[in-house]
Amino acid sequence: MPTYILGIESSCDDTSASVLCDGKVLSNLVANQEIHKSYGGVVPELASRAHQQNIIPVVNQAISLANIDKNQLNAIAYTRGPGLLGSLLVGSSFSKSLSLGLGIPIIEVNHMQAHLLAHFIEDCGKEKPKFPFIGVTISGGHTQIVLVKDYFDMNIIGETLDDAIGETFDKCGKMIGLPYPAGPIIDKNSMLGDPKKFTFTKPKVADLNFSFSGLKTGFLRFVEKESKSKNDFIKSELNNLCASLQNTIVEILIEKINFAVDKTGVNSVVFGGGVSCNSGIIRKFQDQKNYKTFFPKFEYTTDNAAMIAMVGYLKYLNKDFSNLKEGAKARYKI
Ligand code: KG4
Ligand code: ZN
Repeated sequence: MPTYILGIESSCDDTSASVLCDGKVLSNLVANQEIHKSYGGVVPELASRAHQQNIIPVVNQAISLANIDKNQLNAIAYTRGPGLLGSLLVGSSFSKSLSLGLGIPIIEVNHMQAHLLAHFIEDCGKEKPKFPFIGVTISGGHTQIVLVKDYFDMNIIGETLDDAIGETFDKCGKMIGLPYPAGPIIDKNSMLGDPKKFTFTKPKVADLNFSFSGLKTGFLRFVEKESKSKNDFIKSELNNLCASLQNTIVEILIEKINFAVDKTGVNSVVFGGGVSCNSGIIRKFQDQKNYKTFFPKFEYTTDNAAMIAMVGYLKYLNKDFSNLKEGAKARYKI
């Protein structure tokens, strides 16, 4: 008998639902919330309201696209955390109600684990990583280096002490007039710019931890100073600013990951999270000779419910079910 899992993701500003059959994706829908663009970042209250509007149509469409009846579902997997509490509450309460209505188990999923376990989705068409590996979760809210010994045996061995890597792209982008989320635009502009044109100071952080707040401030000060002497500085140097910023971020990341490989002796590096589709990061890491790198398929980099359903499937096989008392958790360690 095939196993059908419905995954529901609502941790930030994307409402997503997906149906997997034995780990293979039948549908994976994401409703993006355009409303945040004009505010330059995600507004939590608006995000939870938009989730409430989106969740029923998105789940309905995911089930109908999968060409199954809801009564065929074996379990519902939902994102318990980490994320914005109001957003998580919409997905968790909806998932609990639906599981009660259908009389099927509910499975809670850690969003950060899901970003890494997305590599085990059956239709990736790519080689799956083997344990142990070094997981690198780089997104708008997180920057972590994780030692992954098994599906659910994960330990954070390094993380950011302040801003996340995606947040750095987004906030620096905002400083030069780019809309939210600026990450993809900086990536695109970088292709037309000189990555060595400007130099920004890299942080000195002990061990495997990161810090991006200094880079952010340094970038702001530089742009302000140059704009004083040249009115159209940002406009005329936009692509060079993007390329130089991206290059600095890539260098910070590669130094730490090389250190993590040396320190652990683990020679597979597996990326996850929205920033892992950055072309500069992919190019630089794919050039590394002393370890193997794994990047997710584009649609499984940013927040999506297929990765949640994938973890749900793995937990379903272990009969690792949750209960109605377990609630959303804004802070939820891997
Ligand atoms: O994983 P994700 O969808 O949401 C979080 O859990 O945060 O990641 C979103 C982040 C945003 O900061 C966005 O700017 C960044 O991923 N991002 C990128 C690129 N595509 C998305 N950053 C750099 N280059 C990209 N191509
Ligand atoms: Zn995410």
